[in-house]
Amino acid sequence: MKILIIGSGGREHAIAWKVAQSPLADKIYCAPGNAGIEEFAECVPIGATKLEELAAFAENEKIDLTIVGMDDPLVAGIVDVFEAKGLRIFGPRKNAAIIEGSKAFSKDLMKKYNIPSAAYETFEAAEEAITYLKTAEYPIVLKADGLALGKGVLICQNSWEAEAGVKSIMLDKQFGSAGDRLVVEEFMTGREVSVLAFCDGTNVATMTSAQDHKRAKDGDQGLNTGGMGTFSPSPFYTREIDEYCQQYIYRPTMDAMKSEGRDFVGILFFGLMLTQNGPKVLEYNARFGDPETQVVLPRMKNDIVEVFEACIDGKLNDITLDFMDNAAVCVVLSSAGYPEQYEKGFLIDGLDTFKEKDGFYVFHAGTKKTEAGIVTNGGRVLGVTATGKDLKEARKNAYAATEWIQFENKYMRSDIGKAIEEA
Ligand code: AMP
Ligand code: GLY
Repeated sequence: MKILIIGSGGREHAIAWKVAQSPLADKIYCAPGNAGIEEFAECVPIGATKLEELAAFAENEKIDLTIVGMDDPLVAGIVDVFEAKGLRIFGPRKNAAIIEGSKAFSKDLMKKYNIPSAAYETFEAAEEAITYLKTAEYPIVLKADGLALGKGVLICQNSWEAEAGVKSIMLDKQFGSAGDRLVVEEFMTGREVSVLAFCDGTNVATMTSAQDHKRAKDGDQGLNTGGMGTFSPSPFYTREIDEYCQQYIYRPTMDAMKSEGRDFVGILFFGLMLTQNGPKVLEYNARFGDPETQVVLPRMKNDIVEVFEACIDGKLNDITLDFMDNAAVCVVLSSAGYPEQYEKGFLIDGLDTFKEKDGFYVFHAGTKKTEAGIVTNGGRVLGVTATGKDLKEARKNAYAATEWIQFENKYMRSDIGKAIEEA
């Protein structure tokens, strides 16, 4: 088969690495890809949101299967564009990707179908939001309705902060049109867990759990980022919690989407918070998580191409997902300053050390190939993943491997997976 992967981050590198192991994959392309993905795929310089160009490429090259990693093309309707041309593609159609594309949509869906989540209000006018926030209970959470690179969420401690937040999201449009509507949500506390699931429109099959670390600094301080590191499995996600979530969250979400005429095919990502009152949904994403994918896929035993095919054909019930009985930790190496200002263009040293080392992976995110070598080219630069017999060993291995890589302005959190020690 000829396979095209769409995206350019650590997530797509992990997907390309996994697809490359499938005997079904004869030739892999990635658009636009990055310097690391080139090891497994031919990178094609077409942007991930150039839907028509991507479809034309797939048609010309006779691509058998396209896999979409990123949210923007999904929310923009890439699956509909490909399907209209009779091209086979893995991901939700536009009317289903809205579960990530609009937080107001997902909150209304959860309310209508009694799926546990935080209480909320939606606003279309800044003045109304500000009036509401004057007498609200704090802390409180403000969310831009649309896509905002995982950064459209503000946790406010008082009404002054909330008012400033409303202004920046709704009036100054810090996140562009994503801030046309605002969701104001009850603040919840508890451990966070990410559960990714394959979906075929009717059936949902969850993968092993993971935990992300969204804040930029140690001790969960600093700004929200796209994710600074992950571990898998989460020791806090017990069998009982899984049973509860299967019954009250995963299955009902699939059924709800079907009832709405929005059959979900693709990866559904459940961002959960384990509160004192039980697990609740923080958010849905309509694609693989980044960096969750970088710890989940190295533990997956199945041929991932077979699973993608079963989802598209509505035959997920024929597949049993199987994960290794080990653990994985991913530490993101970023450019100092991310998620705000940072410099790029620094030479990266030590990438070759990962070659031929079992259980150690370096997934590229913001990198670029130049004549001088591979250089930093983004906020999140690399994801260093290591496996181990348990989380403690995986964590030790991952941090040891971060030392193999050197570049100017290298920054990482030192406490990825530290919570494991409390489990
Ligand atoms: P989201 O993009 O919706 O997952 O939000 C990003 C992060 O903000 C989450 O991973 C949580 O850490 C935090 N967050 C979102 N919603 C809430 C909430 N209702 N209560 C507490 N924290 C939240
Ligand atoms: N790691 C969170 C996300 O992919 O949105």
